[in-house]
Amino acid sequence: MAPEVALSQAMSYARDLKSAYEAARARENELGQANERLRKGYQQSLQYALDLKRTYARLQRAIFQSLLGLANALEAKDPYTRGHSMRVADLARRLALAKGRTRPAAETIAQAALLHDLGKIGVPEGILRKSGALTEAEWVIMRRHPLTGAQIVAPLEFFDEGAVIVRHHHERLDGSGYPDGLRGEAIPLGARIVAVADVYDALTSGRSYRAALLHTEAIDILRGEADRTLDGRLVNLLIDILEAPSARPAGDVSDNGPVPDDAAERGI
Ligand SMILES: [Fe+2]
Repeated sequence: MAPEVALSQAMSYARDLKSAYEAARARENELGQANERLRKGYQQSLQYALDLKRTYARLQRAIFQSLLGLANALEAKDPYTRGHSMRVADLARRLALAKGRTRPAAETIAQAALLHDLGKIGVPEGILRKSGALTEAEWVIMRRHPLTGAQIVAPLEFFDEGAVIVRHHHERLDGSGYPDGLRGEAIPLGARIVAVADVYDALTSGRSYRAALLHTEAIDILRGEADRTLDGRLVNLLIDILEAPSARPAGDVSDNGPVPDDAAERGI
């Protein structure tokens, strides 16, 4: 091959190589830019997801506050129920702490106590406010309230433990309660705590058909129910809490307005 032809070919190869190199560099730049756009898009999506999660959590808290308001309003319009859930929540919190629960766990139990009878919103006024004994058909409707309440709070993801307590607050240790007839320790501790506080407050509060019992009378009844329908250790703990020298019985009749018949729901 003539030297000038070889040189020309070599020059041509060099030009092709340079073009290929520049094309590769350009593609690399494009890829780099696309990568950067993807990274920014991903970061933005992550931020959106976090914002959405925070908004969702705030929304759930707002719904929870509305439910507390609703439960309060439901009680407040009836002199027999006014203040009942607040007192049950206070007692349940003290019981939970005395039982060794952590403060957040005790707070969940107290919040469930505030909402324990929310499901009564689904019970007709004529049954709720009936001063005489309920018929069996009316009891069937009344006994739906723990399930209704649990269904209302079920969408609150942060409150799943509370929903379980609302559902089981009328279970009895001997299995004769509702809605699931759970026995003994199969009943969640929070529900056993709310049950003891609920019965004590119902007994020490007046009803449309009887006056409030004295603290001592209520305690006698609770002792009779200990290890039968109520957790005996929790009954003893409640007595310790209420009769400690520094404690003033929360069920002092002078404090409580008349409240409904949750104790009657248990047949005691
Ligand atoms: Fe109830």
